[in-house]
Amino acid sequence: RPFVYPIPGSSLHCGKMPLEKLAKRFKTPLYVYSADQIVERFELFSHAFEEIPHLICYSVKANSALGILRLLDKQGAGFDIVSGGELERVLRINRKAAERVVFSGVGKTAPEMDLALKAGIRIFNVESAGELELLSERARRVRRTARIALRVNPDVFAETHPYISTGLREHKFGIDIREARAVYQRARRLPGIQPCGISVHIGSQIRSATPFADAAARVVALAEELRADGIKIDSIDVGGGLGIEYTAGAKFNAKAQAEEYARQLIAALAPLKDITLLLEPGRFLVAQAGALLTSVLYVKKNGEKTFVVTDAAMNDLVRPALYQAHHEILPVVRRQGSRQIAVDVVGPVCESGDFFARDRLLPTAREGDLLAILDAGAYGLSLSSNYNTRMRPAEVLVKGATAKLIRRRETIGDLLAPELSALNIRS
Ligand code: LLP
Repeated sequence: RPFVYPIPGSSLHCGKMPLEKLAKRFKTPLYVYSADQIVERFELFSHAFEEIPHLICYSVKANSALGILRLLDKQGAGFDIVSGGELERVLRINRKAAERVVFSGVGKTAPEMDLALKAGIRIFNVESAGELELLSERARRVRRTARIALRVNPDVFAETHPYISTGLREHKFGIDIREARAVYQRARRLPGIQPCGISVHIGSQIRSATPFADAAARVVALAEELRADGIKIDSIDVGGGLGIEYTAGAKFNAKAQAEEYARQLIAALAPLKDITLLLEPGRFLVAQAGALLTSVLYVKKNGEKTFVVTDAAMNDLVRPALYQAHHEILPVVRRQGSRQIAVDVVGPVCESGDFFARDRLLPTAREGDLLAILDAGAYGLSLSSNYNTRMRPAEVLVKGATAKLIRRRETIGDLLAPELSALNIRS
C-alpha cells in the first residue's frame, strides 16, 4: 500500500505527500489516490502476461475518475465498460481509445449500442440471444459491423461474497456454456454481426487463481469446437475479478499474485494458437492505491459502546454497509502512548448500517483527528450516492510529491440543478 508512516512517530503519507497537508488544502472527506501505485500495478500485470498477445482492459466501474482513466490510457490500457456513460468517459479522454474498448453488461440498450458501434469499439460481450438480435438490427441501421464475443457462464464456483459471485448457472450473467455453440451458429448468420471471441467473468474479489484457470479451460474447449465449426475465434476475454487482501495481518504480495494468475491462465490457454487474451481487472489495479480521508466530528459513548462519528459516511463508501467489507482504518497522526480502545467508526447518515468498522481497536480518537480508510480506490466513489443530500467528496491524485485535484467537491448547486430546472425554481 502507498499509505505509510515514513518514519516512526511521523504522520501518514501517500507516497511523499503528507495527508495532513491534503486535508488542509482540499478539506474532508477526500478521496486520495496514488498515481504511482496505479501505474506500478498496471506494469506488474502487463509484465506478467508479456509472453502472450494480450490487452488489459481496465474495468471502468471500479473507479471511473477521468483522471485515472487518462493515466491508464497513457499506459496503453484498454477499457471494460458496462454503459454508454462509461463509454462517454473513455471517449472524453481519448476518442482513439475506442478501439481498445470491450462492452460488457446484461442490459445494453439500443442507444448504448449505437454509440458504441459509431465509436468503433473493439468488441461487444453479448450476454443473451435477445441482445444479439437487437445488436444485429442496430448494426445494420448504423451500417457498422459488430465484433462480438458471447459471454458464457462456465458454471464455476469461486469463493467470494455472494453479491459479487457471477459464474454459476443460477446467476443472471452470460449464456449457459452448454447452449453457447448453438447461439454462435445463429450469430454467424446474422447480418452486421461478426463472432470472433468468447468471454467469461466469474466474479470479483477472488484470491485464488484456480477458478479462473478452470473457467478458461472450459472456454478453450468451446473455442476449439467453434473453430472446428468454421468460426474464427481470435480473442478470449477472461474478465476481471482478481482480489486483494483488505486485512492488515494477511500476507499479500501483488507481484506474486499477478504472476500466479498469469501462469495458470497462460497454461490453460496453451492449446489454442493465434489468440489474444483480453483481461478486465478493476480492483487489483486501483483498490489499494486509494484511501478515504475523513475527520472525526464527535466521539460519543452510548452505554458501554464508544462511537467515533466521522464526516464521511456510507454514501461515500458503501462497501462495509453493503458487503460487511473490512477496511483498515489508520489515524493520520499517531499520538505518543495513546491507548487502544474498541470503537465503532460511523458516519452521519440516518441508518444503523452507516458504519466503516465495528468493535475495532483504534488509538483513542479526539474531535478533529484525521482518519484514513484504506483500500478505498475501487468501488469507493464509483459506488457512492447522494443519500441524505450529501455532497460527494473531492478526489485528488498524488504523483511523487505533488497532488492534483481530479474532481472538485460537489456543491449543493450540482445536486439541485436537475430539480430546480424541472420545477422552474430559480437557483
Ligand atoms: N468484468 C466484468 C464483466 C465485471 O462484472 C467486473 C466487476 C469486472 C470485470 C471487474 O472486476 P474486479 O477486477 O474489479 O473484481 N462492488 C463490488 C464489486 C462488484 C464487481 C462487479 N463486476 C465490491 O465493492 O466489492
